[in-house]
Amino acid sequence: MNQVVKVSDKTFELFISESEILMEVNSLAKSLSEHYANKELVFVALLNGSFMFASDLMKQMTIPVEISFVKVSSYSGELSSSGEVSTLIGLSNDLSGKEVLIIEDIVDTGLTIDKVLPQLQKSNPSSIAVCTLLFKPDAFKGKEKPAYVGFAIPNEFVVGYGLDYNELGRNLPAIYQLKS
Ligand code: PRP
Repeated sequence: MNQVVKVSDKTFELFISESEILMEVNSLAKSLSEHYANKELVFVALLNGSFMFASDLMKQMTIPVEISFVKVSSYSGELSSSGEVSTLIGLSNDLSGKEVLIIEDIVDTGLTIDKVLPQLQKSNPSSIAVCTLLFKPDAFKGKEKPAYVGFAIPNEFVVGYGLDYNELGRNLPAIYQLKS
């Protein structure tokens, strides 16, 4: 595995290896499979970043689970005092009475989750929680802390395993940190 990679115009160094990631994904899937046993579970994975994590996590689940990939879209609207209205695109599953787990590659400020939660609540699920591979506690200022966290990391820029820099680097199987 490369210790150093170039993505677009920046250099990154290895931070979390592919085997460390997969071990952690396995452990998360085990906890989730125990916690949600005999429940109707739906993963709601936020695009684009979460596609790789959601896929690997899904493969390790040992209980029945649905999945829906959604995208958060923000647009300027006259109806909102903040001038910004968020919608969720692509939610096709019926969430009513089910346990929803939002799947994220990273929770940074937490603002994305704050936008998504009220949208999902409209569908009347039994519960909503967040499962994220990466969490930056020092950057977090959101309302809802993730219930399931793979790795708590420092407030440094990371790329790989679904996460991008200028839309590139998502294909890297490990996670790399910006080289100082
Ligand atoms: C990234 C990431 C999370 C969000 C986290 O998505 O996938 O959804 O940022 O940041 P926050 O906690 O500060 O809101 P991004 O908007 O970069 O889109 P992408 O998933 O398509 O890369």
